[in-house]
Amino acid sequence: MDVNRRKFLLFFAASASSIAWECLGDGNIPWGQESFKPGISKAFAEIPNSSSAAVDHSLKFQPIKVPFPLEINKISGSEQIQVYATYEVQDDLVLPEGFTYDLVAAWGDRVGDSRFGYNNDYLSLIETAPNQALLTVNFEYISGTTWMKTYPLVIGKQLPFAEVKAKTEAQEGEIDAFSLKDDDELKTQIKAISREGLIDQGLGVISVRRKENGQWERTYSEVDRRITGISGLDDSSQSLKSTGPGTAIFTKQNKLGYEDDLGDRIIGTFQNCAGGTTPWGTVLSAEENFQDQVPEEVMADGSSFNPAEMPFLIADNSLDGRANVFGLAGNKYGWMVEIDPANPQDYGTKHTWLGRYRHEAFGIRAVAEQNLAVYSGCDRRGGHLYKFISSDKVKNPQDKDNSALLETGMLYGAKLNPDGTGQWIPLSPDTAINPVNPNQVVGGMVVLPNSDRTAGGIMEVQADAEIETFKSKFKTLKDLYQGESPEEIQGAILIDAHFAASAAGITCTSRPEDTIVAEDGTLFIAFTSGSSGSDGGPDKTIFQGPDAETEYEYGWIMKLAEDENNPAALSFIWSMLATGGEPAKGGAGFANPDNLELDKEGNLWVVTDMSTEKQNHAVPTRVQNGETLSGSDLTGVFGNNSVWYIPLSGDVAGEIHPFATGPMECECTGPMFNRDNTSLFLAIQHPGEINGIRQDMAAESREFELLTTEGKTFQQQRQVPVGSNWPSGQANQPPRPGVVAIRRINGEAIS
Ligand code: FEO
Ligand code: CA
Ligand code: CA
Repeated sequence: MDVNRRKFLLFFAASASSIAWECLGDGNIPWGQESFKPGISKAFAEIPNSSSAAVDHSLKFQPIKVPFPLEINKISGSEQIQVYATYEVQDDLVLPEGFTYDLVAAWGDRVGDSRFGYNNDYLSLIETAPNQALLTVNFEYISGTTWMKTYPLVIGKQLPFAEVKAKTEAQEGEIDAFSLKDDDELKTQIKAISREGLIDQGLGVISVRRKENGQWERTYSEVDRRITGISGLDDSSQSLKSTGPGTAIFTKQNKLGYEDDLGDRIIGTFQNCAGGTTPWGTVLSAEENFQDQVPEEVMADGSSFNPAEMPFLIADNSLDGRANVFGLAGNKYGWMVEIDPANPQDYGTKHTWLGRYRHEAFGIRAVAEQNLAVYSGCDRRGGHLYKFISSDKVKNPQDKDNSALLETGMLYGAKLNPDGTGQWIPLSPDTAINPVNPNQVVGGMVVLPNSDRTAGGIMEVQADAEIETFKSKFKTLKDLYQGESPEEIQGAILIDAHFAASAAGITCTSRPEDTIVAEDGTLFIAFTSGSSGSDGGPDKTIFQGPDAETEYEYGWIMKLAEDENNPAALSFIWSMLATGGEPAKGGAGFANPDNLELDKEGNLWVVTDMSTEKQNHAVPTRVQNGETLSGSDLTGVFGNNSVWYIPLSGDVAGEIHPFATGPMECECTGPMFNRDNTSLFLAIQHPGEINGIRQDMAAESREFELLTTEGKTFQQQRQVPVGSNWPSGQANQPPRPGVVAIRRINGEAIS
């Protein structure tokens, strides 16, 4: 055996303790020197993190092998070329040696009087007794193609997909089903499909316990229940409630827009992406891409557009507009939903003070004798970062009465300055109109409330001169929104929060995903992608790649500290903690960071969300037709979506380590540790999202031109399974989204 081969085996097969010595021994480059590790900013060290108690921070697991070389491998360029010449992608959750996972629940399993939904996302584990817990699970969306193909196999029922497709073929599958007569068979068929799709969205509560061997299993208690996209439709006692000024819009008479005749009653919740868990034992669930089911745009008084504006759509690759046939009002979705998992009567409350936009997640800061702060990002290109500050102060962070703090306060948007400072700007009626200029954002376009306020809705602005016209027409937010009372005007602003925030000049960012608050109050934010799109793009002066590139695809992790560490502060400092991308180009090694989790020692865990069609997309050469590929054209290099560990203190601080890769065409979402860090819960979302069922263990060989960590190109032959059979792993079985609990076989803590 030659020396190189021996080194490789040492790296990838030795025990965890020898790895720490062999491969990670020089992990203590002092912060403040120029020799920073790829992707980690020097500013990393500038906001102190108090979670640096005297604990052993040396790496406690052997990083898995991802499809491209990392600096932590500590092997030479020529060895990298040899080691990475081939790679075999697995249709499984791949973990470091010594770890295993157990499936806790998967799509179709029984939950209360319903079933475990599709595309599980946020996981909240609330431990109720030793080795017992309530697990609240978000079900974000359904993956049209694969859901339609696998529904009959997994759920055991048939739906009239083919009939509805045939009847709507002339309109390419798009139809305003709401306006069809009730006795129209097509309406009945669309209702049947829409109902099942909405049942697979929302959230669910399951009770779990840990067995002696560390494995978690379900106990099917009386609190197990589903809150779905149609909760309250058949049984009004299961409707959702609301608080705050948005409620005044739901109940007002003579709306400019659509009237659902339900008053403040809300049918269901859907598109529940990530969330947050409060110290008082409730779960905050984030309604994200609600615009896929209901109209997002509203009238100047905050009332909804007609359901016809988001029609039902059935196509080979999508099945959306599922709220259309039920005539659901768009302004009742896009909120934060709070539920108490322990209360089986609780079907959720939408707290409108937190604003209506494409909520990704919630970072909660509840400190005794201080105001409550709740952070959240709006995941769209050019979306904003927000903070809600309660009017009253927290007394005891564990007291369930703290839910009332979410009913009165103010919503603020973050204005980030290039010098690392920033301010929180209130979304109140008196806030000045001062939109961001289109030339300041990637893509050169911002979206504002339509200046024709009688028509309502939004408008795209590409010329800075148009901004001046807008500013001369509208002076403060109350000039844009209508209402007969201050509460109604505030309600309309909160309902149209994203566009109101754009009008107020809140910074356009690069798709904010998770927001999580560390014990010392530091806020971490994942920004998943700096590319522009039809919704806008990020501020060019803030969101830059390692070489100051704008339109930078691979994302960032930011940290933010409030002035005087006060949750109610209106100014803050920020810095980039890590930048995604290829190591040879100064990136951290991951692409498109999404959910974040902090372990018990305050170290950060990151999951990625590269879009499904780009995963393992072949890159046979980096120069095509004379053009050097960049951005999402190179995403295929990164392989499957993955889980990464970033220690924030100790000997290996700042070194970024791959912990897991997910099954085919999936996203690993909802990472959540139990209290003693021996279990890491993870949701495997949308396995087989495009290619569906993996048939007869099909795989393709694809070619990649990769870079060594020093930037030398070399070729890799990669075996890529087509479709997925996860979690069964059995040939030709349907893929099912599911929740797992990861543990060490020896029962010790994960990190
Ligand atoms: Fe549902 Fe922004 O991820
Ligand atoms: Ca997400
Ligand atoms: Ca995402």
